[in-house]
Amino acid sequence: MNVLLTGGAGFIGSHMAAKLLENSMSFIVVDNLSNSNKSQLKKLEDHFLKKIPFYNFDIRDKNKMAIVFNENQIDAVIHFAGLKSVNESVNNPLRYYNNNVEGSRNLLSLVKENNIKRFIFSSSATVYGEPKYLPIDEDHPLSAMSPYGQNKIDIENSIFNDTFFKKDCSTKILRYFNPVGAFQDGLIGEIPRGIPNNLMPYLLGVVNNIYPFLQIFGDDYKTIDGTPVRDYIHIMDLIDAHYHALVDNKLGIEVFNVGTGEGCSVMELIKSFEHINEIKIPYKMLPRREGDVETCYADNKKIFKRLGWKSKRDIYQICSDAYKFSQNINR
Ligand code: NAD
Ligand code: WQD
Repeated sequence: MNVLLTGGAGFIGSHMAAKLLENSMSFIVVDNLSNSNKSQLKKLEDHFLKKIPFYNFDIRDKNKMAIVFNENQIDAVIHFAGLKSVNESVNNPLRYYNNNVEGSRNLLSLVKENNIKRFIFSSSATVYGEPKYLPIDEDHPLSAMSPYGQNKIDIENSIFNDTFFKKDCSTKILRYFNPVGAFQDGLIGEIPRGIPNNLMPYLLGVVNNIYPFLQIFGDDYKTIDGTPVRDYIHIMDLIDAHYHALVDNKLGIEVFNVGTGEGCSVMELIKSFEHINEIKIPYKMLPRREGDVETCYADNKKIFKRLGWKSKRDIYQICSDAYKFSQNINR
């Protein structure tokens, strides 16, 4: 099977590339490097002694994308490419609409024209908005809390509305919860551009003395210790879920949550990180961050029943691998 990874130079896409290399599967990467560089793929090439076919193309560029489909026999597409900063989407919603929604629609047309039989889309738990009940299952109503969230809903709808994806393609929409951690021994991980918004990359910046302390946004939530609760999933567990989705060939659209099913507070994550890595993380309590929900974790029964996937790595493994990556980051 030959797999096209859009956004394959980014955090999640590069870990998918690692998994495919481990399993000796062939793939190609399309990425415009707007939020990444080739360093992660280069590390994989050196580690696995294999060249990764790479196109520095924008998924919105119809002519260039047609070249990718013409030059390669593609059996499956995993669509990771997209901008993902919630804040930035609030400040520049049109850029997000254009890149994420228009870009995805362009790709969907090419997948359809080329009769690709397997398609996986990176959606997000952000489509559920403020949780109405917990854990959140796939039937939970959708509601966008940001233009980024609305982009994901719009792309999902574009998929749902097309008979090709409904009838002639094995289409999987994966709604990720909070992917964190790194590939084995920290070979690759998440390299954010600019100041990270997300918890783990910021925490790793504190470990590497880029930032003096971690800011904790709110300790007055109704949770175990007052800090917000999320479903942090190890990046390689998330990737394993893609692998299960990729090898399944049932036609039609299916939506799956990809989370551990366990909630973990910000403070619990920090304590786990300190414990497993024998390191102190300086932090300060700040007021709540606008737009944050109190608690969010997945009901993951559907993906286990249908695809036999469940997460295997715990929060200590996440923190240990993330730490190893932080020590490797500039090597
Ligand atoms: P990332 O920014 O690290 O990777 C995305 C990649 O897509 C980048 O390498 C970027 O250069 C590329 N890209 C963006 N727009 C492009 C375009 N128009 N043409 C070609 N390439 C383009 O982000 P990630 O964390 O790896 O996320 C991958 C996908 O998963 C995204 O769609 C994101 O919305 C989704 N997602 C991420 C998370 C998360 O917490 N990381 C959670 C839920 C969903
Ligand atoms: C987690 C917790 C913060 C940073 C976002 C997107 C979501 C999805 C994943 C793509 C929260 C707290 C954070 C910091 C902190 N992405 N925090 N100090 O907000 O759950 O989800 O990323 O689809 O759409 O919204 O993740 O990592 O930003 O925050 O205290 O410096 O950590 O308040 O409670 P979030 P996050």
